Amino acid sequence: MTTDSFRPEKKITTFYPPQRTLLGPGPSDTHSRVLSAMARPTLGHLDPVFTEMMEELKGLLRYVFQTTNLLTFPVSGPGSVGMEMCFVNMIVPGDKVVVCRNGVFGGRMIENVERCGGIPLVVEDKWGDPVDPQKVEDILKKHPDAKIVAFVHAETSTGVQSDAKTIGQIARKYDCLTIMDTVTSLGGTPVYMDGWDIDAIYSGSQKCLSCPPGLSPVSFSERVVDLVRNRTEKVHSWFMDISLLLGYWGSSRTYHHTAPTNSLYGLHESLVILYEEGLEHSWARHHRNHEALKAGLKTLGIGYVVDEAYRLPQLNSVHVPAGVDEKEVRRKLLTDYNLEIGAGLGDFAGKIWRIGLMGNSSKLGNVIFCLDALEHVLADLGMKVNKGAASSAAHQYYANNPAV
Ligand SMILES: Cc1ncc(COP(=O)(O)O)c(C=O)c1O
Repeated sequence: MTTDSFRPEKKITTFYPPQRTLLGPGPSDTHSRVLSAMARPTLGHLDPVFTEMMEELKGLLRYVFQTTNLLTFPVSGPGSVGMEMCFVNMIVPGDKVVVCRNGVFGGRMIENVERCGGIPLVVEDKWGDPVDPQKVEDILKKHPDAKIVAFVHAETSTGVQSDAKTIGQIARKYDCLTIMDTVTSLGGTPVYMDGWDIDAIYSGSQKCLSCPPGLSPVSFSERVVDLVRNRTEKVHSWFMDISLLLGYWGSSRTYHHTAPTNSLYGLHESLVILYEEGLEHSWARHHRNHEALKAGLKTLGIGYVVDEAYRLPQLNSVHVPAGVDEKEVRRKLLTDYNLEIGAGLGDFAGKIWRIGLMGNSSKLGNVIFCLDALEHVLADLGMKVNKGAASSAAHQYYANNPAV
């Protein structure tokens, strides 16, 4: 047997991905400045020049999370790793944890609690509805020994935003710590970690931060640091034990794992872009593009799943028009226009589309392109549309609402 016997049968050459426009639930389009940053020379993860950059990265993350927490850094892994890091460090077997479920990702939090040996106390809300803070208070009254309240700020499966400030206040009133998922919210809509009294937060690089997937910014309050320090049993994951990771992301800079240096250059650059734009401007841009898209979709008779008061501007969950083959629409958008939009998940599969306008994807050109392409595809598939009306409505919105 030679080494050639293990060669793949198919001739394989360099991979060149097509240039798509990513308007799904994530990833969003990576900013060109981020791609350039990632192509710079690789440094050792303990190189003093690199560790200086790490300090800036921590400072920039404190800005986007709106926190002074010292323990703020990007985890090497996707948002799911950030999620697990919170649960695995904060729960010991037998702990009661209130988990709010109003979509897919709340369900994953329940899984995490169970896998850590905790007891989930589930607050259920309908898909498309925000978490009801009253239900959180009711369950805490019934279970005064609950230790943590966990919830998803921006539920990507439905496009709904929950009232993090009120949930944070209720949790504190009952002496509970909080875990908040900001994978879809961070950068696109306000997040005030300290202002809302949140103890543990995680996000993802690939949505409103305009980076490729694979990094999860996290931040932990002093209360969490104390909790982890006082654990009598080891955290059940070596990689995610924050007391060990501190050796690398803290001041001692000792080897923990080989950090993905080039990806971290990319995150640094994306945060510099956000810092230059300013958080309020980024939130306003996401809102304006959402409103323009909404105006265009209205001309096609396409309405929203979520009540206006709780709608996420960066994730537009909309009803598929009656009689339309939603899968075929997405296929045509992808193959004919190189445009990706998202399908519904779980209960919403086949019934909704999720149109993301996140980070670098949230711009006027993409809104107009999406409306024109959708209108043409729907017409091709036999739906009666007034061609040009959707993008005209969006242009009108932009004209009446100039950028701030
Ligand atoms: C709200 C939410 N939480 C967690 C995750 C998991 O993140 P990742 O896919 O990066 O692991 C996602 C991914 O889309 C998400 O939208």
